[in-house]
Amino acid sequence: MPPVSGGVIHSLPHPAFGPMTHIIRAANPGDADALSAVSARTFALACSDGTPLHDIDAYIATELAGERFLEHMADPSKTIFVAEEQGVCGYSMLCQETTPEELRAWHSLELRRLYVVPERHGSGIADSLMERAVSLAKERQSECLWLGVSGNNHRAIRFYSKHGFSIAGTFHFPLGQIIYEGLLLSRTMDPDNSFKQMPLRVGTTATPP
Ligand SMILES: CC(C)(COP(=O)(O)OP(=O)(O)OC[C@H]1O[C@@H](n2cnc3c(N)ncnc32)[C@H](O)[C@@H]1OP(=O)(O)O)[C@@H](O)C(=O)NCCC(=O)NCCS
Repeated sequence: MPPVSGGVIHSLPHPAFGPMTHIIRAANPGDADALSAVSARTFALACSDGTPLHDIDAYIATELAGERFLEHMADPSKTIFVAEEQGVCGYSMLCQETTPEELRAWHSLELRRLYVVPERHGSGIADSLMERAVSLAKERQSECLWLGVSGNNHRAIRFYSKHGFSIAGTFHFPLGQIIYEGLLLSRTMDPDNSFKQMPLRVGTTATPP
């Protein structure tokens, strides 16, 4: 997969400090600990209701540790974009590893993570990260972008809906001893070739494996 480079500068208002500028750029190894810290502050918000705290903490300590980010950065199937505004305040991770059954007919790219620190929700930083994810998908000639989201993550579902995503199926992900079912969302890169629109529904179930 070709490397990504360069950064894009965006200026947005901040409620306390007035106009603020953030940059979206490719991650480098020096970002690993900051990406881990952002993840630790945001991961619980992305989890299904009722997820045991000890499972969340264990996932943060292992899968969201700085060393894991170094591994992701060394993996050519993954791309991480950093949002920086007086320090790292968000990131996205895109992967070309698997394609869900529902999307096999498409050349697709997964948006595996999109995390922004809570105090910058609603600031437009997530929009900038999404914009960069969409441009990467287009650079890679992907026909669609997809992701899995908890059905109770209403804020994220609304955000993805604003960015043209609709439901393509269900999505399963293990955490601790539980396999959670969430929503599989996708959007096409071609506005004239939209997926059949389905009304976004909410709700998720957790079942023992
Ligand atoms: C998901 C995320 C990246 C979105 O970024 P954001 O800056 O919060 O998104 P926005 O504010 O632009 O959009 C959120 C929308 O949800 C709406 N919203 C907020 N709470 C809501 C709720 N409980 N129910 C429904 N909609 C809600 C907001 O009003 C906004 O819609 P609007 O622009 O029409 O008013 C960010 O919230 C985040 O990092 N969350 C934690 C990590 C996470 O869940 N990541 C996604 C994992 S799949």
